[in-house]
Amino acid sequence: MKFTRKSRVSPFVLFLDVVLAGQAYAQKSFLSDALVRKDQVQNVLEYQPAKVPSCKNAVLTGPIETTLCDYETIESVNDDLFNNLSDLVRMPFFRYFQVDLYRECPFWPSNGLCSDPGCAITTVDESDIPERWRAAALSKVDPKSIDKRHELPGCYYRDSDYCFLDDNTEGDYFDLQLVPERYTGYSGHDARRVWRSIYEENCFGLSELSLMKGKSPAPVTLPDTMIEALHEDGKDSPAQCLEKRVYYKVISGLHASISTHICHEHMNQTTGQWGPNLNCFIHRVASHPERLQYIYFDTILLLRAVSRLRPYLSAFDYCSSGKHEDDAETWDRLTKVLGIAEDVGRFDETVLFRGENANVLKEEFKTHFRNVTRIMDCVGCDKCKLWGKVQTTGLATALKILFELDEKALNPQTNPDLLHRSEVVALFNTLFRFSESLKAVDDFRRDWHRLDTEESQKIIIETKKTDSQRVGRNYAEF
Ligand SMILES: Cc1cc2nc3c(=O)[nH]c(=O)nc-3n(C[C@H](O)[C@H](O)[C@H](O)COP(=O)(O)OP(=O)(O)OC[C@H]3O[C@@H](n4cnc5c(N)ncnc54)[C@H](O)[C@@H]3O)c2cc1C
Ligand SMILES: *[C@@H]1O[C@H](CO)[C@@H](O)[C@H](O)[C@H]1NC(C)=O
Ligand SMILES: *[C@@H]1O[C@H](CO)[C@@H](O)[C@H](O)[C@H]1NC(C)=O
Ligand SMILES: *[C@@H]1O[C@H](CO)[C@@H](O)[C@H](O)[C@H]1NC(C)=O
Repeated sequence: MKFTRKSRVSPFVLFLDVVLAGQAYAQKSFLSDALVRKDQVQNVLEYQPAKVPSCKNAVLTGPIETTLCDYETIESVNDDLFNNLSDLVRMPFFRYFQVDLYRECPFWPSNGLCSDPGCAITTVDESDIPERWRAAALSKVDPKSIDKRHELPGCYYRDSDYCFLDDNTEGDYFDLQLVPERYTGYSGHDARRVWRSIYEENCFGLSELSLMKGKSPAPVTLPDTMIEALHEDGKDSPAQCLEKRVYYKVISGLHASISTHICHEHMNQTTGQWGPNLNCFIHRVASHPERLQYIYFDTILLLRAVSRLRPYLSAFDYCSSGKHEDDAETWDRLTKVLGIAEDVGRFDETVLFRGENANVLKEEFKTHFRNVTRIMDCVGCDKCKLWGKVQTTGLATALKILFELDEKALNPQTNPDLLHRSEVVALFNTLFRFSESLKAVDDFRRDWHRLDTEESQKIIIETKKTDSQRVGRNYAEF
């Protein structure tokens, strides 16, 4: 791997630091913040993304985390990917997502104390904040984004099974283009409870810190030793661990990606001003480099799933506005994204779920993920819930494509009901969100670059302080 700043160790070497650090802070909580390690933040923010993957001709195989080459490859195409995806998700087929935002939380009473989304907010005293900047207002989905068009007969479809009208769940169609995923002020106990139950779905008992614990591989010869480091926690056999770790990474990557968006489109609730908040990004992501890695991890997972879909997607009808030009235009934009995905979304998912208990594990995995999509009904902020549902559905679809469906199954002629429109929409919009996160990270790097040494030192000291306070608090909370 080539790193432009020679004086710096790579963020992946840094990852090992974290591995070692983890040992010192054994904790039981699922949600935990390891203390910030020396130079960790700097390394994340001063890293220069690869423009040309230096591993261009390497064969990309194996579970994603063994091939950091894949990370570089993503970096080198992310601008194109982002631009092509933003063109794609503007097309009618991809912008309307049907969802019922008003289902009851199946796991705890949401009608009791906390029926008002505003009551989810416990961390900020909002009494001085103008009404329109309060979390309750920011969290609401504008009724204008509900699209009524689906109630009209659209143009006809080649196959009604893929038709706009056929996502026969209840709920409204939301125009995703009109609902940004950004800071809403939703936080506090309620938000944490949701995150915690998502991680606990991972009843395999893995936490961020238990993942990072493990024997220290003495010589620092990344990338491939990273996987070894992850395996060595002594309890589970490595073969069994991999899938469980995949679950954790998928979730943690989603969490980190959502955090990145929140920080990138942040609002100062005192002034009502929107803008990137570097401190926020440092606290939530950069001071935990492995979270950033999991954003890459999810991106690659999604790309790999997308890369397998070309034959299947070629049979869809993308005409949703009554004009057949739409169909051609959408397919045109879609093929560009497919092209990129086929180029870089290459790893071998067959290394997962193939041991003795493969099928049991796979079923477990599935149950957990389904449950995660239901936990979304417990999110007390409509905008967050909408994007939470899109993205958990998107990731679930990717997992389904990777682990359930072989090439034969992915044949639209023999298996037309395989993917619903909403799954395809979710898959591509989720990929777009992740690509956007990687782009946002670049922005934060630029912001960091503009700080003088004194300012950046100050931030790091601050981060260390608040993070150690948080570790204390977590003990108390959970
Ligand atoms: C599904 C969902 C969608 C949301 N969407 C939005 C939104 O669109 N806009 C908005 O403003 N808010 C949204 N929120 C709320 C937001 O995610 C945070 O919960 C909130 O901003 C409070 O942040 P926090 O700093 O307390 O930590 P949280 O993000 O709530 O995290 C709780 C704890 O989890 C651990 N943790 C954090 N990140 C990771 C990670 N990547 N991997 C592992 N562990 C981690 C840490 O210990 C942290 O203290 C959403 C919440 C959920 C559950
Ligand atoms: C889409 O990606 C291709 C590379 O695959 C790139 O040449 C093109 O400029 C991208 N399109 C947009 C709109 O950025
Ligand atoms: C689903 O999640 C809820 C809330 O965390 C939990 O109570 C329930 O046991 C889970 N169900 C399954 C089948 O895992
Ligand atoms: C919001 O803006 C005010 C006024 O400029 C500033 O004092 C405050 O620190 C800002 N808050 C945050 C969280 O950035």
